[in-house]
Amino acid sequence: MVEKISETRKSFDEALSKVTNPQSLEELRLKFLSKKGIVNQLFEDFKLTSKEEKKLIGQILNDLKTYTQSKFNEFIQKLEKEYTVKKAASIDLTLPGKQKEIGSKHIITQTLDEIKNIFKGLGFSIYEGPELESDYNNFEALNFPTDHPARDMQDTFFINQNFLLRTHTSPVQIRLMKEKKPPIRAIMPGKVFRNEAVSAKSYCLFHQVEGLYVDTDVTFAELKGTLVAFIKQYFGSEIKYRFRASFFPFTEPSAEMDIWWQPKGKEGRWMEILGCGMVDPNVLINVGIDPEKYVGYAFGMGIERTTMRKYGIDDIRLLFDSDIRFLKQF
Ligand code: PHE
Repeated sequence: MVEKISETRKSFDEALSKVTNPQSLEELRLKFLSKKGIVNQLFEDFKLTSKEEKKLIGQILNDLKTYTQSKFNEFIQKLEKEYTVKKAASIDLTLPGKQKEIGSKHIITQTLDEIKNIFKGLGFSIYEGPELESDYNNFEALNFPTDHPARDMQDTFFINQNFLLRTHTSPVQIRLMKEKKPPIRAIMPGKVFRNEAVSAKSYCLFHQVEGLYVDTDVTFAELKGTLVAFIKQYFGSEIKYRFRASFFPFTEPSAEMDIWWQPKGKEGRWMEILGCGMVDPNVLINVGIDPEKYVGYAFGMGIERTTMRKYGIDDIRLLFDSDIRFLKQF
């Protein structure tokens, strides 16, 4: 028994000196110090020894127990200390902090948000329609004669004979008037598509904001008043503007609105920003609204060109290229 005890001590020392990782440390603990480990087993054997032997062995067996346990604890403490020192050494407080890349809203989205907010303040709600439209909503219901040049394959992306990518946001007027009874007062923002040669000035895709107000007593003066209130909020109260008579199949009378644009150090000029007019009675008939009872006005503006002017962007393609170096500036 005495011999067994001293052998255990030796093999414990040896095993401890070979511990290199948490797994081998755990193995050592299981082998020697656990309930079913060697040391406890020796205590079991001890129970079976004679009285005289107990006197002799008891002491050294207890010593073995304290020895192994304290060696084991020491070892763990040493490890913990090493770990904290290592960890402290690996923290370099002079390093700059980690920088998070925060995305931002696209400049066109920002412009749209701004326009939506202004019209919300003027009592308009917001309504959206699909980018894939029927020929009927995009042209027919809007009073385009069958041979109108805008229906030409050159301007329109046709999907098939009856469907196309909308060329303006005006078909959303049709959807809205079919769905809701007057009074209707809403703006309709969204993407529109034109089959044009891509250049610095034009792109196959851009954004418009459509406006529509239908009620029993809507006037052209109100249309002008609303648009003037809008551009003053958007461009500032000093903005110079004018209305010019124009033509659209779906409005009568029709006008276009220009603003005076004078970039710093450059010659000023009139710049067209939107089309507008009183909803043509034919359009009201097409959507089942009685033109004897109701009148309406409508307007539609392109977003890209005004945004480009406002920020001095000279190539429309930049707005669609998703080049982070460009987008970061806004
Ligand atoms: N839809 C016309 C365009 O794309 C603009 C417009 C809208 C004109 C509403 C009058 C009324 O040019």
